[in-house]
Amino acid sequence: MSIEILIFGAGAIGAFYGSRLAFNNDVNVSVICRSNYNAVKSNGFSVESPQYGDYKWMPTRTFSKPTEAQKAGVNWDYVVVSTKALPDVNDDSELLQGLISKGTAIVLIQNGLGVEEPYMKRFPEAIVLSAVTICSAAQPNHGHIKHNRWTRINSGPYPENSAEATRRNELFNNYLVKGGVKDASAYSAEKMQLLRWHKIAINAAMNPSSVLSGGTDNASMALDPDMYAHLKGVMEEIFEVAPKVTGKPFPKDFATAEQILNSTKKNPSGSKPSMQIDWAEGKKMELEVILGNPIRLAREKGYEMPRLHSMYALLKAAQRNREENSKPKL
Ligand SMILES: NC(=O)c1ccc[n+]([C@@H]2O[C@H](COP(=O)([O-])OP(=O)(O)OC[C@H]3O[C@@H](n4cnc5c(N)ncnc54)[C@H](OP(=O)(O)O)[C@@H]3O)[C@@H](O)[C@H]2O)c1
Repeated sequence: MSIEILIFGAGAIGAFYGSRLAFNNDVNVSVICRSNYNAVKSNGFSVESPQYGDYKWMPTRTFSKPTEAQKAGVNWDYVVVSTKALPDVNDDSELLQGLISKGTAIVLIQNGLGVEEPYMKRFPEAIVLSAVTICSAAQPNHGHIKHNRWTRINSGPYPENSAEATRRNELFNNYLVKGGVKDASAYSAEKMQLLRWHKIAINAAMNPSSVLSGGTDNASMALDPDMYAHLKGVMEEIFEVAPKVTGKPFPKDFATAEQILNSTKKNPSGSKPSMQIDWAEGKKMELEVILGNPIRLAREKGYEMPRLHSMYALLKAAQRNREENSKPKL
């Protein structure tokens, strides 16, 4: 019998990893689309990648919304959530009601901290797997996925390592590896949360700083001595607080702030962080999961992160001002 995987949020990341999972003969991959529904329903996805070449992918089923997916009556083995994590806009877990059964594993491939909680609370009978990816992908037009570089993806059970969650996590990881994603690896629940904090250090430094500096690209930020000092300060603030919040030290093989920034300096591709791209397109930024939740999780344990807090306050106000200015004047 085939494994049934449903991708909720078939944008850059969801469609890219969905297309790789679909290379397994015993896996059916279906998608819930939104604005790209008509294009994907008619022609599927075309994926362009320097690593995998150019290929087409027609999902097993293409749905226009979650309620349509419910009507298909499939028992989903995995529901992959790859929407932007915007808890201040919408609780996406609510939209999955009717799609999750006892045997379903929900895989969250999203940036940020605290993204798992709403799913765990709403679906206590399901398995929740938390995943983080280092990847650069975009959907420049509907149904066209441009994979630029990197395919590192790690996933782990949340919140703890039950035998069944560990087994399902390893199975999912094997499907990625068999789909050609060589850098996929299964982590324990504890290591996964440390990795989330580590990734947050990169995101919380690069993303807000690009927006606040008027759209500076990653390499230019790392090459500017004052920006370098600022980015290193943000990363180190998180690297200092995270082990205190989680009660665990970072593994020795996780990169230091200097290593991250030196590698960023060497990639003058002009690439900009996703938050800057969202801001430039007038979209909501993932402020709560990248800045707000880390600040709150640290504060619950008695720690402050003043550099993060400054950027959070400034960007929240900028976003609020823009929304208010865009309302029609009566
Ligand atoms: N792109 C990257 O290179 C990258 C790298 C690492 C991590 N990430 C993280 O991965 C996550 C996904 O990012 P992404 O870049 O793939 O975002 P994206 O391209 O915007 O894809 C998200 C998709 O979810 C869809 N969606 C949102 N709400 C929906 C709903 N209610 N029903 C159906 N579809 C819905 C969006 O549809 P619409 O187009 O209609 O809004 C969009 O197609 C984020 O947390 C991001 O930070 C991204």
